[in-house]
Amino acid sequence: RPRIFSGMQPTSDSLHLGNYLGALTNWVSLQDDYDALYCVVDLHALTVATDPALLRDRTRSTAAQYLAAGVDPARSILFVQSHVAEHAELAWVLSCHTGFGEAGRMTQFKDKSARHGSDGTSVGLFTYPLLMAADILLYDTNLVPVGEDQRQHLELSRNVAQRLNARFGPGTAVVPEPHIVKATAKIYDLQDPTAKMSKSAASPNGIIELRDDPKVVAKRIRSAVTDAGREIRFDPEGKPGVSNLLTIFAALTGRSIEALEGEYAGRGYGDLKKDLAEVVVDFLAPFQTRVSGYLEDPATLDDLLADGAERARALARETLERVYDRLGLLPAR
Ligand code: TYM
Repeated sequence: RPRIFSGMQPTSDSLHLGNYLGALTNWVSLQDDYDALYCVVDLHALTVATDPALLRDRTRSTAAQYLAAGVDPARSILFVQSHVAEHAELAWVLSCHTGFGEAGRMTQFKDKSARHGSDGTSVGLFTYPLLMAADILLYDTNLVPVGEDQRQHLELSRNVAQRLNARFGPGTAVVPEPHIVKATAKIYDLQDPTAKMSKSAASPNGIIELRDDPKVVAKRIRSAVTDAGREIRFDPEGKPGVSNLLTIFAALTGRSIEALEGEYAGRGYGDLKKDLAEVVVDFLAPFQTRVSGYLEDPATLDDLLADGAERARALARETLERVYDRLGLLPAR
């Protein structure tokens, strides 16, 4: 069966609705048809300064949220990136086959380094996309389910894989395809619906965190910025606020945007927001109960992650040995 890999950074106690709708729900449905590996990419999170105890908690919390969303450890491999040393090993190899200019053209790097200056920007932030490419290539991944913001990083992974194949022969690396579901590829900030929902948002009121108090969540939805006029219509250009709410509503209920437009024809923004707040709270309450269940028993969670790491390591070792051999590194015997 074709292989899937994806991951999220444990840079917060809670994933947000963008992570959930842009990626995590797709991870869950793809498990039926693919062999999937889902990873908590804690090494990537080192690019953000974090208190060590907090990083550990967030790593478990992220894994618990994967499980609560429906990632099934009986079918998919669920693990923590730093538990499989091969990720960092392959990243080095890839960095030796990537141009400085090519890496420097990554827009996420350009944005972040512009904000923090060159001494405030770590070398790790620069090589971040190569660690990500290593995550993907290490498992001969065919498909990578992510949101729109990862498209350029995926393109870099593809270029590096193609370069390895050109230099060391076909089959050195599998060239991965992005899996980006258009309808939910970019969920927007509730206070600034032209910006993507992001952990580093200007105001916490614009983001819905999956582990937030449902009362706070409901309030944030009811106070979401809507647009001029009063018609409830899906029009991302003209009505970004309302369109974002319709996207979230449709994705969480499985209903179509057209059906929702019909239902809210002639009604006000307030009705839409009140109903959406209920939909989100109804989704979050059982989700949060499941997350708490996993976190109450960290020993079991850690066992599960150890088992995932062992399965991932076996696959990773094979790929890394193949690549090392193709590159001419002397086998250790
Ligand atoms: P991260 O942790 O920033 O985000 C995790 C996933 O959530 C998606 N996402 C969104 N989707 C829709 N709307 C949004 N507003 C939104 N915000 C975030 C992201 O596209 C992503 O799929 N570099 C990656 C982590 C990573 C990775 C990998 C992913 C490391 N190695 C290998 C895939 C394969 C990142 O920072 O994601």
